[in-house]
Amino acid sequence: MQVLNFDTIIIGSGLAGLSAAYHASKYGTVAIITKSQLDTSNSYYAQGGIAGAISAADSPKLHFDDTMVAGRGLCEKDPVEILVNEGKDRILELIELGMQFDKQNNEFVLGLEGGHSKRRILHAGGDATGKALTCFMLEQVQKQPNITSFEYTAVTQLLIEEGECTGAQAIDFVSGKNLVFKGKASILATGGLSRIFSRTTNPHTATGDGIALAYEAGAQLADMEFIQFHPSALYLKDKDAFLISEAVRGEGAWMLNTEGERFMKEVHPLAELAPRDIVAFSIYRQMQKLKTPHLYLSLKHLDAEKIKKRFSNIYKQLKEYGYDMTSDLLPIAPAAHYMVGGIKTDLDGETNIPGLFACGEVASTGVMGANRLASNSLLECLVFGKRASEKAAKRSHKKPATTDFAPFTNDPKNEQAYLEVKNEIADLMSENVGIVREGKKLAEAIAQLQDLAKKLPNTISDYNELKIKQITAICLLITQSALLREESRGGHIREDFQQESPEFRLHIVQQKNQEPIFIPIK
Ligand code: SIN
Repeated sequence: MQVLNFDTIIIGSGLAGLSAAYHASKYGTVAIITKSQLDTSNSYYAQGGIAGAISAADSPKLHFDDTMVAGRGLCEKDPVEILVNEGKDRILELIELGMQFDKQNNEFVLGLEGGHSKRRILHAGGDATGKALTCFMLEQVQKQPNITSFEYTAVTQLLIEEGECTGAQAIDFVSGKNLVFKGKASILATGGLSRIFSRTTNPHTATGDGIALAYEAGAQLADMEFIQFHPSALYLKDKDAFLISEAVRGEGAWMLNTEGERFMKEVHPLAELAPRDIVAFSIYRQMQKLKTPHLYLSLKHLDAEKIKKRFSNIYKQLKEYGYDMTSDLLPIAPAAHYMVGGIKTDLDGETNIPGLFACGEVASTGVMGANRLASNSLLECLVFGKRASEKAAKRSHKKPATTDFAPFTNDPKNEQAYLEVKNEIADLMSENVGIVREGKKLAEAIAQLQDLAKKLPNTISDYNELKIKQITAICLLITQSALLREESRGGHIREDFQQESPEFRLHIVQQKNQEPIFIPIK
């Protein structure tokens, strides 16, 4: 098996991976491994923007407060302090490097989204911030001679030797060859997992591989029960959900039920701009009450020209679906959007396994609590991508040990079986572990997932079988954690425990072959 040596190995090429790679390249050689193309990631599709307290009317303290409120008592103070303070520095650094955020009269145009008390969302290309930001970071990465990229290459296992992570084994889909990457540190930046639900805003790559790899290697996971559902994804029967940015509501769009009522006004003083968990749940309840699969977003009362200019990409995309967003009622329903929990890390992105780091959506740094504040995710990628790469650089190389691993094959004939199981699991998760959960249905889902797990062979050597094992494991982790949390809080709502409970002001931490542990919030 070919062995490749680097100082830092980065798995994933969204904003967190690119940011980590850029900073890591100042200290040594870097490999970026991605199972698809470098520019395929959740970050790329982000529309709204990146939150940063850069205006004179704003402050990191106000941003801190909004993040803590949205997180419903489960945010950790220290990482949130870091996020809002270093976040501002990271944004200013990017601007200095040449990143062009949208401006008017030489001032940054700042958007508003749910849960923010100030306009603080920087955007680029109107509603194409993720694309602009990831392409900009990709350019910076491609200028660094000591970064090597491996596209269409999937990591099949993390290498753990004497309790430390020494690299990763991977399969190159093009050549079919297995590769061993050795390094002093490995940084998981593989993004989220919302594709394990049948209705999602995420690209097909968001299947939680990083979570599964880390869990298998013995890493601790935290807050896996918290899945954020985006309130306003276009609803078209039998079609994929299409994200309609919260920034659209920031510019004044209304949510109407099928009776034409602006129901959010009754629910929260911020109405459509209440924190995301509250809006998504209120939509769910309205849909249930009115027995309808969707509600509406209306921009009819807003300045059409301004909307077309500010949201040119969403406007164009909706036109292709047959809707004019300035004059039609847009059918919307919630869709799985973001994994709030993930691989538990310290303030520098390091996990409980020395040499293994995580940043971005795959990580649980403690900043998201029970519900992420809108547009904090790209910020987290920049802040903790840099911190992880800097701590990683301080590690010394372990002497290379084993390189003799059983190879994986990637037989395309097995892909159909994977897709069938994936769809079955996605339906199960959407039905039993969606926005609103209930003990009995969670227990049923656990039993079904355990049955699926039992059907897997003891030794797995094909990539598609590995994927089945991974999504089954991830879904079990989410569901088991959801069953343990006997309360309703943020993105986790239980029909059978409808109140928030002070007893559950804690993180549920899971680890392979260990009983879950409960860690109170500091
Ligand atoms: C959006 O544009 O609504 C998504 C932004 C986010 O998920 O923070």
